[in-house]
Amino acid sequence: MLISMDAEELATRWRERLDSWAIPAEIMAKAPVDPWGHHPARFATRTDRALAEPDDGPTATHLIEALDEGATLLDVGAGTGAASLPLHDRFSMLYAVDTSAAMLDELTLRADKLGVPLTTIEGRWPDVAEQVPVADVVVCAHVIYNVPDLADFLRALNAHARRRVVIELPHRHPMSWMAPLWQHFHNVDRPVRPVAEDCVALAAALGYPVRVEEREAPLDRFNSLEDLADSVCQRACLDPARSAEVGATALELGMWPLPRERWTTIWWD
Ligand SMILES: C[S@@+](CC[C@H](N)C(=O)[O-])C[C@H]1O[C@@H](n2cnc3c(N)ncnc32)[C@H](O)[C@@H]1O
Repeated sequence: MLISMDAEELATRWRERLDSWAIPAEIMAKAPVDPWGHHPARFATRTDRALAEPDDGPTATHLIEALDEGATLLDVGAGTGAASLPLHDRFSMLYAVDTSAAMLDELTLRADKLGVPLTTIEGRWPDVAEQVPVADVVVCAHVIYNVPDLADFLRALNAHARRRVVIELPHRHPMSWMAPLWQHFHNVDRPVRPVAEDCVALAAALGYPVRVEEREAPLDRFNSLEDLADSVCQRACLDPARSAEVGATALELGMWPLPRERWTTIWWD
Protein backbone atom coordinates (compact mmCIF):
# COMPACT_ATOMS: atom_id res chain seq x y z
CA MET A 1 0.00 0.00 0.00
CA LEU A 2 1.36 3.40 -0.95
CA ILE A 3 1.14 5.82 1.96
CA SER A 4 1.45 9.46 1.05
CA MET A 5 2.34 11.86 3.84
CA ASP A 6 2.14 15.61 3.94
CA ALA A 7 5.11 17.86 4.56
CA GLU A 8 4.28 18.34 8.23
CA GLU A 9 4.26 14.60 8.92
CA LEU A 10 7.48 14.09 6.99
CA ALA A 11 9.13 16.97 8.86
CA THR A 12 8.07 15.44 12.18
CA ARG A 13 9.46 12.06 11.14
CA TRP A 14 12.73 13.68 10.06
CA ARG A 15 13.10 15.38 13.43
CA GLU A 16 12.25 12.21 15.37
CA ARG A 17 14.69 10.15 13.34
CA LEU A 18 17.45 12.71 13.77
CA ASP A 19 16.69 12.88 17.51
CA SER A 20 17.22 9.11 17.69
CA TRP A 21 20.92 9.82 16.95
CA ALA A 22 21.32 11.50 20.34
CA ILE A 23 24.16 9.91 22.26
CA PRO A 24 22.97 8.15 25.46
CA ALA A 25 23.42 10.55 28.40
CA GLU A 26 25.69 8.24 30.43
CA ILE A 27 28.10 7.92 27.46
CA MET A 28 27.92 11.62 26.64
CA ALA A 29 28.78 12.49 30.27
CA LYS A 30 32.16 10.75 29.84
CA ALA A 31 33.01 12.28 26.44
CA PRO A 32 36.55 13.73 26.57
CA VAL A 33 35.70 16.16 23.72
CA ASP A 34 32.54 17.25 21.87
CA PRO A 35 31.60 14.16 19.82
CA TRP A 36 29.68 16.27 17.28
CA GLY A 37 32.38 18.97 16.80
CA HIS A 38 33.85 19.72 13.35
CA HIS A 39 37.54 20.55 12.80
CA PRO A 40 38.06 23.54 10.51
CA ALA A 41 41.57 22.27 9.60
CA ARG A 42 40.12 19.01 8.33
CA PHE A 43 37.58 20.85 6.18
CA ALA A 44 40.24 23.28 4.97
CA THR A 45 42.24 20.30 3.66
CA ARG A 46 39.09 19.07 1.90
CA THR A 47 38.60 22.51 0.30
CA ASP A 48 42.24 22.69 -0.78
CA ARG A 49 41.91 19.29 -2.44
CA ALA A 50 38.67 20.36 -4.15
CA LEU A 51 40.43 23.51 -5.41
CA ALA A 52 43.40 21.51 -6.68
CA GLU A 53 41.25 18.84 -8.37
CA PRO A 54 37.80 20.31 -9.08
CA ASP A 55 35.10 17.65 -8.95
CA ASP A 56 32.88 17.05 -11.96
CA GLY A 57 30.16 15.18 -10.02
CA PRO A 58 26.44 15.99 -10.11
CA THR A 59 26.60 18.77 -7.50
CA ALA A 60 29.20 20.80 -9.39
CA THR A 61 27.55 19.98 -12.73
CA HIS A 62 24.07 21.15 -11.69
CA LEU A 63 25.52 24.26 -10.07
CA ILE A 64 27.50 25.17 -13.16
CA GLU A 65 24.42 24.66 -15.39
CA ALA A 66 22.57 27.32 -13.40
CA LEU A 67 25.45 29.77 -12.90
CA ASP A 68 25.01 32.06 -15.89
CA GLU A 69 27.45 34.88 -16.45
CA GLY A 70 27.52 37.30 -13.50
CA ALA A 71 25.48 34.98 -11.28
CA THR A 72 25.65 35.16 -7.50
CA LEU A 73 26.01 32.05 -5.30
CA LEU A 74 24.87 31.51 -1.71
CA ASP A 75 26.57 28.66 0.20
CA VAL A 76 24.65 27.68 3.35
CA GLY A 77 26.71 25.77 5.93
CA ALA A 78 29.66 26.75 3.76
CA GLY A 79 32.36 25.45 6.09
CA THR A 80 35.68 26.35 4.46
CA GLY A 81 34.08 26.54 1.01
CA ALA A 82 34.59 23.06 -0.49
CA ALA A 83 31.30 23.18 -2.41
CA SER A 84 31.51 26.76 -3.68
CA LEU A 85 35.11 28.02 -3.97
CA PRO A 86 36.15 25.52 -6.69
CA LEU A 87 33.52 27.20 -8.91
CA HIS A 88 35.04 30.66 -8.31
CA ASP A 89 35.34 31.51 -12.00
CA ARG A 90 31.61 30.84 -12.46
CA PHE A 91 30.10 33.42 -10.09
CA SER A 92 30.48 37.13 -9.48
CA MET A 93 29.79 37.09 -5.73
CA LEU A 94 29.74 34.46 -2.99
CA TYR A 95 27.58 34.74 0.14
CA ALA A 96 28.68 32.22 2.76
CA VAL A 97 26.63 31.39 5.85
CA ASP A 98 27.95 29.27 8.70
CA THR A 99 27.51 29.00 12.47
CA SER A 100 31.28 28.66 12.86
CA ALA A 101 33.49 31.76 12.74
CA ALA A 102 36.57 29.52 12.51
CA MET A 103 35.23 27.86 9.36
CA LEU A 104 34.37 31.23 7.80
CA ASP A 105 37.89 32.52 8.61
CA GLU A 106 39.43 29.63 6.65
CA LEU A 107 37.01 30.27 3.79
CA THR A 108 37.85 34.01 3.77
CA LEU A 109 41.58 33.24 3.65
CA ARG A 110 41.09 31.12 0.54
CA ALA A 111 38.62 33.51 -1.11
CA ASP A 112 41.09 36.40 -0.64
CA LYS A 113 43.89 34.39 -2.29
CA LEU A 114 41.61 33.60 -5.25
CA GLY A 115 40.31 37.18 -5.46
CA VAL A 116 36.71 36.03 -4.90
CA PRO A 117 34.22 38.74 -3.85
CA LEU A 118 32.79 37.36 -0.62
CA THR A 119 30.29 38.28 2.08
CA THR A 120 30.20 36.04 5.14
CA ILE A 121 27.26 35.79 7.51
CA GLU A 122 27.95 34.07 10.82
CA GLY A 123 24.88 32.38 12.26
CA ARG A 124 22.40 29.57 12.07
CA TRP A 125 20.30 29.04 8.98
CA PRO A 126 17.40 29.83 8.76
CA ASP A 127 17.63 32.16 11.81
CA VAL A 128 19.92 34.55 9.90
CA ALA A 129 18.14 34.17 6.55
CA GLU A 130 16.66 37.66 6.71
CA GLN A 131 20.16 39.18 6.79
CA VAL A 132 21.14 37.26 3.64
CA PRO A 133 20.42 38.54 0.14
CA VAL A 134 18.60 36.40 -2.41
CA ALA A 135 21.11 34.81 -4.82
CA ASP A 136 20.79 33.29 -8.28
CA VAL A 137 21.86 29.87 -7.05
CA VAL A 138 21.96 28.32 -3.56
CA VAL A 139 24.17 25.40 -2.54
CA CYS A 140 24.06 23.49 0.73
CA ALA A 141 26.54 20.61 1.05
CA HIS A 142 26.88 18.15 3.94
CA VAL A 143 24.74 20.09 6.38
CA ILE A 144 21.30 18.46 6.25
CA TYR A 145 21.97 15.78 8.90
CA ASN A 146 22.64 18.66 11.35
CA VAL A 147 19.18 20.13 10.79
CA PRO A 148 16.24 19.09 12.98
CA ASP A 149 13.80 21.67 11.54
CA LEU A 150 14.26 20.59 7.97
CA ALA A 151 11.05 22.03 6.48
CA ASP A 152 11.87 25.59 7.62
CA PHE A 153 15.48 25.13 6.52
CA LEU A 154 14.45 24.01 3.00
CA ARG A 155 11.81 26.75 2.67
CA ALA A 156 14.45 29.39 3.46
CA LEU A 157 16.87 27.87 0.91
CA ASN A 158 14.11 27.95 -1.71
CA ALA A 159 13.14 31.53 -0.87
CA HIS A 160 16.78 32.63 -1.34
CA ALA A 161 17.27 31.11 -4.80
CA ARG A 162 16.21 32.97 -7.93
CA ARG A 163 17.18 30.08 -10.21
CA ARG A 164 18.17 26.85 -8.49
CA VAL A 165 18.82 25.10 -5.16
CA VAL A 166 21.42 22.31 -5.06
CA ILE A 167 21.82 20.13 -1.96
CA GLU A 168 24.46 17.46 -1.43
CA LEU A 169 24.34 14.95 1.42
CA PRO A 170 25.62 11.47 2.13
CA HIS A 171 23.02 8.83 1.35
CA ARG A 172 23.17 7.66 4.98
CA HIS A 173 23.86 9.61 8.16
CA PRO A 174 27.59 10.48 8.11
CA MET A 175 28.19 8.50 11.35
CA SER A 176 26.40 5.36 10.13
CA TRP A 177 29.61 3.57 9.17
CA MET A 178 30.68 3.53 12.86
CA ALA A 179 27.75 1.36 13.97
CA PRO A 180 29.82 -1.84 14.48
CA LEU A 181 32.27 0.09 16.68
CA TRP A 182 29.46 1.57 18.79
CA GLN A 183 28.18 -1.96 19.23
CA HIS A 184 31.66 -3.23 20.16
CA PHE A 185 32.68 -0.48 22.57
CA HIS A 186 29.32 0.55 24.08
CA ASN A 187 26.91 -2.28 23.22
CA VAL A 188 24.67 0.37 21.64
CA ASP A 189 22.79 0.06 18.33
CA ARG A 190 22.93 3.19 16.21
CA PRO A 191 19.91 4.20 14.09
CA VAL A 192 19.59 3.70 10.33
CA ARG A 193 17.21 6.56 9.40
CA PRO A 194 17.00 9.29 8.33
CA VAL A 195 18.48 8.72 4.87
CA ALA A 196 18.71 11.03 1.86
CA GLU A 197 15.35 9.79 0.50
CA ASP A 198 13.68 11.22 3.60
CA CYS A 199 14.97 14.67 2.66
CA VAL A 200 13.92 14.13 -0.97
CA ALA A 201 10.40 13.15 0.14
CA LEU A 202 10.07 16.24 2.33
CA ALA A 203 11.34 18.62 -0.38
CA ALA A 204 8.86 17.06 -2.84
CA ALA A 205 6.02 17.34 -0.30
CA LEU A 206 6.87 21.03 0.10
CA GLY A 207 6.11 21.34 -3.61
CA TYR A 208 9.61 21.62 -5.07
CA PRO A 209 10.18 19.85 -8.41
CA VAL A 210 13.09 17.81 -7.05
CA ARG A 211 15.54 15.86 -9.13
CA VAL A 212 18.01 13.43 -7.62
CA GLU A 213 21.33 11.87 -8.56
CA GLU A 214 23.54 9.56 -6.51
CA ARG A 215 27.17 8.61 -6.89
CA GLU A 216 30.17 7.29 -5.02
CA ALA A 217 31.94 9.93 -2.90
CA PRO A 218 34.96 11.31 -4.78
CA LEU A 219 37.18 11.15 -1.67
CA ASP A 220 38.08 8.55 0.93
CA ARG A 221 36.79 9.52 4.35
CA PHE A 222 40.20 8.86 5.99
CA ASN A 223 43.77 8.81 4.74
CA SER A 224 44.89 6.21 7.26
CA LEU A 225 43.65 3.73 9.85
CA GLU A 226 45.10 6.05 12.51
CA ASP A 227 42.91 8.92 11.24
CA LEU A 228 39.89 6.66 11.38
CA ALA A 229 40.70 5.55 14.94
CA ASP A 230 41.22 9.14 16.16
CA SER A 231 37.90 10.15 14.66
CA VAL A 232 36.10 7.20 16.29
CA CYS A 233 37.56 8.18 19.68
CA GLN A 234 36.03 11.64 19.29
CA ARG A 235 32.68 10.59 17.77
CA ALA A 236 32.11 7.60 20.05
CA CYS A 237 33.21 9.40 23.25
CA LEU A 238 36.29 7.22 23.86
CA ASP A 239 39.54 8.28 25.51
CA PRO A 240 42.00 9.25 22.71
CA ALA A 241 44.53 6.97 24.47
CA ARG A 242 42.45 4.05 23.14
CA SER A 243 43.11 4.99 19.52
CA ALA A 244 45.40 1.98 18.80
CA GLU A 245 42.83 -0.38 20.29
CA VAL A 246 40.09 1.21 18.16
CA GLY A 247 42.22 0.81 15.04
CA ALA A 248 42.91 -2.85 15.83
CA THR A 249 39.20 -3.46 16.43
CA ALA A 250 38.25 -1.79 13.15
CA LEU A 251 40.72 -4.11 11.39
CA GLU A 252 39.32 -7.19 13.17
CA LEU A 253 35.78 -6.17 12.20
CA GLY A 254 36.83 -5.87 8.53
CA MET A 255 36.14 -2.12 8.49
CA TRP A 256 39.45 -1.05 6.92
CA PRO A 257 39.80 0.06 4.20
CA LEU A 258 36.47 1.82 4.62
CA PRO A 259 34.21 1.61 1.54
CA ARG A 260 33.45 5.01 0.06
CA GLU A 261 30.12 6.57 0.95
CA ARG A 262 27.33 7.23 -1.54
CA TRP A 263 26.52 10.91 -1.94
CA THR A 264 23.13 12.22 -3.07
CA THR A 265 22.58 15.44 -4.99
CA ILE A 266 19.10 16.95 -4.84
CA TRP A 267 18.25 19.97 -6.96
CA TRP A 268 15.29 21.98 -8.18
CA ASP A 269 14.61 25.13 -10.19
C1 LIG B 1 30.10 18.97 7.51
S1 LIG B 1 30.41 20.68 7.34
C2 LIG B 1 30.27 20.91 5.58
C3 LIG B 1 30.95 22.16 5.10
C4 LIG B 1 30.95 22.40 3.58
N1 LIG B 1 29.61 22.71 3.11
C5 LIG B 1 31.53 21.23 2.84
O1 LIG B 1 30.82 20.62 2.02
O2 LIG B 1 32.71 20.92 3.09
C6 LIG B 1 28.91 21.38 7.94
C7 LIG B 1 29.01 22.88 8.15
O3 LIG B 1 27.70 23.39 8.34
C8 LIG B 1 27.70 24.30 9.43
N2 LIG B 1 26.31 24.29 9.91
C9 LIG B 1 25.63 23.25 10.48
N3 LIG B 1 24.36 23.58 10.71
C10 LIG B 1 24.20 24.87 10.27
C11 LIG B 1 23.11 25.78 10.22
N4 LIG B 1 21.87 25.45 10.65
N5 LIG B 1 23.32 27.02 9.73
C12 LIG B 1 24.55 27.39 9.29
N6 LIG B 1 25.62 26.56 9.31
C13 LIG B 1 25.45 25.32 9.77
C14 LIG B 1 28.78 23.78 10.35
O4 LIG B 1 29.31 24.80 11.18
C15 LIG B 1 29.82 23.27 9.36
O5 LIG B 1 30.74 24.27 8.99
